[in-house]
Amino acid sequence: MTLVLGIETSCDETGIAIYSDRDGLIANTLYSQIELHKLYGGVVPELASRDHIKRIIPLIDEAFTEANISKTDIDAIAYTVGPGLNGALLVGAGVATGLAYSLNKPTIPIHHLEGHLLSPLLGEKQPQTPFIALLVSGGHSQIILVDKIGSYTLLGDTLDDAAGEAFDKTAKMLSLPYPGGKYIAELAVAGIEEYQLPRPMIHTGDLNMSFSGLKTAVLTYINKLPKPLDMITKQNIAKSIEESITDVLVKKSLLAVKQTGIKRLVVSGGVSSNLSLRTKLNKQSGIEVFYPPLSLCTDNGAMIAYAGFTRFKNAKFDYKFDVLPRYALTSLNNT
Ligand code: KG4
Ligand code: ZN
Repeated sequence: MTLVLGIETSCDETGIAIYSDRDGLIANTLYSQIELHKLYGGVVPELASRDHIKRIIPLIDEAFTEANISKTDIDAIAYTVGPGLNGALLVGAGVATGLAYSLNKPTIPIHHLEGHLLSPLLGEKQPQTPFIALLVSGGHSQIILVDKIGSYTLLGDTLDDAAGEAFDKTAKMLSLPYPGGKYIAELAVAGIEEYQLPRPMIHTGDLNMSFSGLKTAVLTYINKLPKPLDMITKQNIAKSIEESITDVLVKKSLLAVKQTGIKRLVVSGGVSSNLSLRTKLNKQSGIEVFYPPLSLCTDNGAMIAYAGFTRFKNAKFDYKFDVLPRYALTSLNNT
């Protein structure tokens, strides 16, 4: 049996989990700093690092209690090495390396996006490779061809704002709390698509995306409306935003399937918890769609523990560490 401890601190969630190749996830603990950053309307990097420092050791202890194993039982410690916030990443990397040194266990540095990409493998229905991955989070909107675990080709990327960022920035215009994707989705349930927002780059024929224009379009509508906005107007704007973003994501994913002939689509990252996106994709015939469990769509330690297990061959005992705040997924090929 192999047991991997996973540590995620790339942004505003401290996530700790333990993956066993025999029993699956045997511990999964998380502390979200959302309340801390809400006041500022976005993540404040210095506050994020300091809060990771406060939470990480108690969460690690909690994970071992939940798994009912001792620290010496684990075989390796995986941690997010990047991309992400420099100071936040350093907390996870430093604690992972220090703990590994004290236990004489190896460490495994993990790419945060590979964690998201592999998180559907922790779900009930698991995709076979090759598959197309739509990776949609607060910082990324990418379409990736996954030939096998560790072999990635970037087929499409966002030219400006990521899908999650577009949700967050337009939510801010509606005075919704940060991060706004979840609140837009909640409001949209009762809304109708009253406002015709653009579907940026939907007809370009390539797999790139752009969402920054959406902010201007939403602002133009909001400026014309009487203030304060009433609930129904907010619901309708939210629905219009959600329709615009999800239409583009669905169209580009289907185009990737058509261009590659690969009919398996994996959707991951925070935006993959959007139910309207899931409904639209599930309606498409001729493709099989896979998602992470809803609780593992946003940042978590489970995906890092699991990615660590798949990269066990990279485990090393040298206890040198660094972090990579900017780190391309394709640089993992052949590593
Ligand atoms: O993957 P994630 O937790 O963090 C990053 O690595 O960025 O993704 C966070 C993003 C945020 O932009 C958030 O608004 C978005 O995921 N998000 C959603 C939903 N839940 C979270 N967007 C749309 N609908 C949701 N239900
Ligand atoms: Zn993430």
